[in-house]
Amino acid sequence: MMELKDTLRGRDFISIHDFTVDEIAYFLEVGAQLKKMQKSGIAHPYLAGKTLGMIFQKASTRTRVAFEVGMYQLGGHALFLSPRDIQLGRGETIKDTALVLSRMLDGIMIRTFDHDEVLELAHWASIPVINGLTDLLHPTQVIGDMMTIMEHKGKLQGLKLAFIGDGNNVAHELLFGGAKTGMDVVIASPAGFEPDKKVMELAQADARETGARLWVVEDPAEAVEGADAVYTDVWASMGQEGVAEDKEKNFLKYQLNSSLLALAKKDAVVLHCLPAKRGKEITDEVMDGPQSVVFDESENRLHAHKAIMALVM
Ligand code: CP
Ligand code: NVA
Repeated sequence: MMELKDTLRGRDFISIHDFTVDEIAYFLEVGAQLKKMQKSGIAHPYLAGKTLGMIFQKASTRTRVAFEVGMYQLGGHALFLSPRDIQLGRGETIKDTALVLSRMLDGIMIRTFDHDEVLELAHWASIPVINGLTDLLHPTQVIGDMMTIMEHKGKLQGLKLAFIGDGNNVAHELLFGGAKTGMDVVIASPAGFEPDKKVMELAQADARETGARLWVVEDPAEAVEGADAVYTDVWASMGQEGVAEDKEKNFLKYQLNSSLLALAKKDAVVLHCLPAKRGKEITDEVMDGPQSVVFDESENRLHAHKAIMALVM
């Protein structure tokens, strides 16, 4: 088994923004190594005897399965804590939940709505807290996404990624991801749905170190022009079900279809964090087409999450 550096042990994983350029490169490197070990049948029980609690206040397929299977493959055990069953769902405080779980577990993964809840949990927990998605950020996704782009392009530095659609949690984290790896990120969003200004400011500051260019445009064609990677996500995120229909009207020009993709580089890869609304933000033709790497991207959640857990827990 390769030796892992323990410089990240005990850290929370709340955003890519919180880590240095070298630390993010290390997560990506360890993810790639763990993938190789898994594929060659080499056991890698870095977390033998350890336990991860997984609190999901929102639905999940990929994140839940990747953390649970990943923990098993690392020799540990993961517990799924549904808000329907745990006392947090009946009003027990985040503070008390954090203090109790810290006495029994070695790490907590949480997916929730308000980003501040993750910060509060991390504040009170004495064990690492991993952000499995909030309304603001989705960091474990973007580690897997960057692993996927690396696999297909051999690098991140100097590439251009175009994100088409809502300036949401995934878009925000891609800005941080690009900033820390030197990958240019352009977001094309309809007016009123641009990424958060504060996130953009922080990411711009991070980008000074790597030279990544980060910007926002309204025209999807302008964003996709010459891109190496084209990314999209649902127009209405979890929690926005009530406004989805209304919101959709603003996004009709933002569909990732063959004519939009044709403006990217010939060998551009297509990403989507999934779940997708096929026929809305992405067509079947693109999602199932030769440039799509969305299922590699899904698989890489497993390897990326394993790297995150093996390094912080
Ligand atoms: N991409 C992603 O986080 O998927 P899930 O919602 O299925 O976990
Ligand atoms: N932006 C989407 C991502 C799902 C993985 C959402 O928050 O629902």
